[in-house]
Amino acid sequence: MKPNRRNFIKQTAGTLLAGIAMSDFLLAENTTLISSQGKKIVADDEKFWSMVRQQFPLTKDVAYLNNGTMGPSPYPVIEAVRKGMMDGDQFGNYGGWEASQKKLANFVGANEDEIALTHNVTDGINIACWGLPLQKGDEVIMTTHEHVGNAFPWLNRQKLDGIVLKTFTPASTAAETLNRISSLINKKTRAIAVPHIPCTQGQILPAKEISKLGKEKGLFVFIDGAHGPGMLLLDIHDIGCDMYASCCHKWMLGPKGTGFLYVKKDFQNTLQTYFVGGGSDNAKWNMATNPVQMGDYASSAHRYYGGTQSAGLYKGVDASIDFIENIGMQNIHDRIKMLGGYVQQKLLEFGDKIELITPIEEQSRCAVNGFRIKGIEYDKFYAKASENKIRIRMVPENGLNSLRISTHIYNTKSEVDKLIDLIGKV
Ligand SMILES: Cc1ncc(COP(=O)(O)O)c(C=O)c1O
Repeated sequence: MKPNRRNFIKQTAGTLLAGIAMSDFLLAENTTLISSQGKKIVADDEKFWSMVRQQFPLTKDVAYLNNGTMGPSPYPVIEAVRKGMMDGDQFGNYGGWEASQKKLANFVGANEDEIALTHNVTDGINIACWGLPLQKGDEVIMTTHEHVGNAFPWLNRQKLDGIVLKTFTPASTAAETLNRISSLINKKTRAIAVPHIPCTQGQILPAKEISKLGKEKGLFVFIDGAHGPGMLLLDIHDIGCDMYASCCHKWMLGPKGTGFLYVKKDFQNTLQTYFVGGGSDNAKWNMATNPVQMGDYASSAHRYYGGTQSAGLYKGVDASIDFIENIGMQNIHDRIKMLGGYVQQKLLEFGDKIELITPIEEQSRCAVNGFRIKGIEYDKFYAKASENKIRIRMVPENGLNSLRISTHIYNTKSEVDKLIDLIGKV
């Protein structure tokens, strides 16, 4: 996709309220849309990646090392949202968001009829959690590293339906993590509901092996994939889980408030849908002639969402996939893994003054790293980093009391160095 940048500047600047720095738009005007032309880009080719950085309006005043919370969008995505909204607001056009199901499906290794559009990861988790046929006493295996978005729906179901949650702590190796899950499985276990990459320390859990184990034992397998797409070369079919919930507003760099839930085709009659409306039906109901007959659900994962969606936001999702594919998912993965490795290397140089809590095992690490600084409270250092214009994340969840750095393609080694220098000083 090659949006006309000059039009973007003119139209956007013309319609925006006063107070927005023109320099942002001039920056956009001066950048050239970038493509790897299908070639391999070396992970530390700073010239190429600094051109990529130019495509983001993200301020240069702050070292933004918190992509794990929110992925800033590049200009082409922002422009696609604006244009998508104008289509509705100027011409009265309605609909069209289903096209994103296909695009997302191709991007994550699924079929179009296995993708339900959602507004965030939490939506997808709730649909999965409440749709599973679980009874009182049924056990669900989870981690001690859950984000509130994966913890709270299951805790709620525990409270309201009496299911039982069993937890394990992810280990420093994928093999040991798998052992820990395996040792929790018993006659009452019905489901595994774990993150692909926990928000706390960013380690990659062996989702494929976990799914294989779960399916061999006859369990439902749900993956909270908040951090999968856009960071990893994701192939959900290859993973083999039943359900995978994610969003487009983190590593995919898409519009905020967009996401999807994957539900395996042959699992759609097992996962009950509750939240239904326009699009989740098969148009066989008629309240005038037969108010008892509801027909059936849509024959695809569209059954899990209904009603009007934001066509503009989903145009932005399409543009974010184009943006990623223009650069190449492999190139992006290599770059962010290199930056994640650089963070680890720098933290390890502090010796025992820093506790790196993310595994260094090759298959278990990528773009997110968690750590603690000996002798300094995590919230004190967080405040210090903010004062110094470095944005990271505190991890108070589950009593972990640690810090997290997450780096994407718009980051540079020098931004990481800024943080490392500050750690050195304190
Ligand atoms: C692992 C994990 N799960 C779930 C969520 C919730 O995501 P959302 O805010 O898109 O619902 C997050 C958000 O950071 C997360 O990191």
